[in-house]
Amino acid sequence: MQDLNASSNTYSDGVIRQFSIMAVVWGVVGMLMGVIIAAQLVWPELNLGLPWTSFGRLRPLHTNAVIFAFGGCTLFATSYYVVQRTCQTKLFMPKLATFTFWAWQLVIVSAAISLPLGFTQGKEYAELEWPIDLLIAVTWICYAIVFFGTVGIRKVKHIYVANWFFGAFIITVALLHIVNSAAMPAGFMKSYSAYAGVQDAMVQWWYGHNAVGFFLTAGFLGIMYYFVPKQAGRPVYSYSLSIVHFWALIFTYMWAGPHHLHYTALPDWTQSLGMAFSLVLLAPSWGGMINGIMTMSGAWHKLRTDPILRFLIVSLSFYGMSTFEGPMMAIKTVNSLSHYTDWTVGHVHSGALGWVGLVSMGAIYYMIPRLFGQKQMYSIKAIELHFWLATIGIVLYIAALWISGVMEGLMWRAINADGTLTYTFVESVKAKTPYYITRMVGGLLYLSGMSIMLWNVIKTATSGKAAINAIPAVTAHA
Ligand code: HEM
Ligand code: HEM
Repeated sequence: MQDLNASSNTYSDGVIRQFSIMAVVWGVVGMLMGVIIAAQLVWPELNLGLPWTSFGRLRPLHTNAVIFAFGGCTLFATSYYVVQRTCQTKLFMPKLATFTFWAWQLVIVSAAISLPLGFTQGKEYAELEWPIDLLIAVTWICYAIVFFGTVGIRKVKHIYVANWFFGAFIITVALLHIVNSAAMPAGFMKSYSAYAGVQDAMVQWWYGHNAVGFFLTAGFLGIMYYFVPKQAGRPVYSYSLSIVHFWALIFTYMWAGPHHLHYTALPDWTQSLGMAFSLVLLAPSWGGMINGIMTMSGAWHKLRTDPILRFLIVSLSFYGMSTFEGPMMAIKTVNSLSHYTDWTVGHVHSGALGWVGLVSMGAIYYMIPRLFGQKQMYSIKAIELHFWLATIGIVLYIAALWISGVMEGLMWRAINADGTLTYTFVESVKAKTPYYITRMVGGLLYLSGMSIMLWNVIKTATSGKAAINAIPAVTAHA
């Protein structure tokens, strides 16, 4: 990987600064929503008896805020950062890049207003109504123009592997969004899906699973392939493996969606196909994880002193864990126990908090001082503290939900000798309370780590601002 050791005049870094700061801000907001809905599951009175603050409306607000606002801003920031440095050129059409920033913030604010008001298409992770969907499509196409335009004007022949992953993420998300959001408007903020019945479900989970595969995975693998070697000061373990990893992963993900629809009206062969491809998916997922972790060869000692590297490497361990668990849960007999239970939510958050969250934080900690003309983050101790709060928070969260998920699954299927159910549904709900409290505490720890990060980022950025104003040429070392 060749980089320019260059000044801010060489790269369009303003838009990256904007996206990075907002990623952290939206991270705090989205995780706060997570803690609030986790508390509502323990104390339903916190729904406040109002429609706007009910669990059903705040839950999609949480998922949209963490995935599209926190995750989305992180992906915009890192992809713009990486593509310039690995292509040794400024962004193509920097004004269009600035437009993507403001348009994306408008999407987020529209979501934050419309979801509590109850406007929804009722499709998970694709709840936003058609006018916002159109804005997303326009923003995404502009993003593609900026990203691929920058690759097009690159000064080096080679296209670094991180850009392959970012590129696949951008193209696929455009395709998924446009196909799954196809709908007939029936007034402002009201529409009906273009698909009906089981086809609607299949298209939705083709979208949903690939949103995991491309939004929450491929884009973040792009981050992994740039920031892990950079922070470790080592080349990628195997470039050949990264190529096999790329093609195997993007080919396999596309077929695995039906594992979300086991034992439904979806034809049985389609479910089995989804299961088979999910099992195959273990191989490219672990290939990527191994490539990331082995990049540490010869640099393991750095983990002792470098908390940013710790964020990046521990994120890969959680990636490996959740991509082992996912294929297991895709096996029909296992899914008959796990589906509808907290096990699924535990799996989601081992990927979301462990993989997506930690790798994002590591990358942002890497970029912020460089973007604001500082040698390092304002407080390294605060990064250490953040790391431990986040890690302990994740462990509490996912361990609690594994226990509660398996427990409720077993309670639902337990039958007496006479064939009647051993437990009523409400007994299973009651039994989950201690685990829900533990999850909420885990979430609170994770959120407090993120809040410390926000303070640290603001401190670094504000002291850096002075440096940028004073000596405009000396910033942003790659
Ligand atoms: C402080 C941290 C967080 C807390 C306390 C939290 C809490 C929650 C809660 C209570 C739910 C609803 C579960 C249910 O319906 O039973 C949920 C759902 C969800 N959260 Fe989080 N969350 C946090 C962070 C995140 C992050 C960072 C992401 C993604 C990057 C994320 C992604 C999701 C997703 C995708 C769902 C839907 C899961 C499903 O439908 O199975 N969460 N979260
Ligand atoms: C090899 C990789 C993976 C496979 C095969 C896989 C498989 C699965 C399966 C079988 C389910 C349960 C479906 C159900 O019973 O409804 C599931 C749910 C989910 N997984 Fe994974 N998973 C993988 C990796 C990941 C990763 C890395 C993340 C997050 C970054 C993730 C996020 C989710 C989400 C958000 C859901 C919940 C969807 C919903 O019902 O709302 N998965 N996954």
